[in-house]
Amino acid sequence: MIVCSCTMITSKDIAEAVSALRTADPFVVLTPGTIYRHLGKRPSCGSCLPLITKLMVAYDEEGPSSAASVPHRSPIEDS
Ligand code: FES
Repeated sequence: MIVCSCTMITSKDIAEAVSALRTADPFVVLTPGTIYRHLGKRPSCGSCLPLITKLMVAYDEEGPSSAASVPHRSPIEDS
């Protein structure tokens, strides 16, 4: 699922970034900014940041399978 339509970040990218960042540093403070930096991208419009935050927390607390329970709201639909 594409989470950020500006930079084409998917939910899988977020899961992998959370896993890699948590593995590299168990005490890392995860923010949407750390996810973007890890992926080598920068947010543009920012409308995806609430969803990225929800997915990041869900992946971090319960693992990637929890993302299915997070309701998807496309940033495109808000326009
Ligand atoms: S939808 Fe993510 S920065 Fe625009």
